[in-house]
Amino acid sequence: PAIAVIVPAAGIGKRMQAERPKQYLVLHNKTILEHSLARLQQVPTLSKIWLALAEDDPYFADINFDQSQIVTTKGGTERMHSVLNALQQIEPYKYPWVLVHDAARPVVRQADIELLIERCITTGDGGVLACRVRDTMKRGELTVAHTVSREHLWHALTPQLFPTALLKAALEDAIQAGVYVTDEASAMEWAGHPVLLVEGHSDNIKITQPTDLALAAFYLEQLI
Ligand code: CTP
Ligand code: MG
Repeated sequence: PAIAVIVPAAGIGKRMQAERPKQYLVLHNKTILEHSLARLQQVPTLSKIWLALAEDDPYFADINFDQSQIVTTKGGTERMHSVLNALQQIEPYKYPWVLVHDAARPVVRQADIELLIERCITTGDGGVLACRVRDTMKRGELTVAHTVSREHLWHALTPQLFPTALLKAALEDAIQAGVYVTDEASAMEWAGHPVLLVEGHSDNIKITQPTDLALAAFYLEQLI
């Protein structure tokens, strides 16, 4: 089945505190967004990309990428709005599945994307790339309220892959109900749909704060 790709890239990168949104910072001669798009393009089953951009984005026009494969859509106030705006441009009968990948995750491996696609399409359920938590986890503020067993804890990464019509309905309903979600899986869980955890590699980091840049640059060198 055909898979539409959504790349939310309309964030401002507040935590990065750089002079421009983090997806336009350069690592190994390419912007982070270009790396992320190139990773997705390596996967033969993925074709068209809906890219959510901030309305006043002055950087995208200069990126070096085959823009004919890309449909740009308007970003929203939160990531969930950016993704829903893009979803509204995608016909579910033409693209029964939609894969969402953060612009800020340039290190994702082709094999992990393919594993996610395979697992979801064979079971018919949506799913997320995830990796197991390795540190001991504590809940609390100034002191520990309690230790949370890490046995069943995972980091939710992207890409995340869902049946297009279900994801669209789940996000619309969540927004309507005033529920704020930070990833697509949360909206699907909230709507009562199963979400598969597909184990991927932990180097698939979301570039979030300044120290992540050197790490991502190193990981990219290992993959290139
Ligand atoms: N994103 C988006 N629209 C928004 C907010 C975020 O498309 N309104 C995108 C970001 O561009 C990023 C991805 O969602 O690719 C993950 O979000 P995050 O890492 O939080 O990026 P920012 O929101 O830009 O960073 P910050 O939260 O530090 O401001
Ligand atoms: Mg954010």
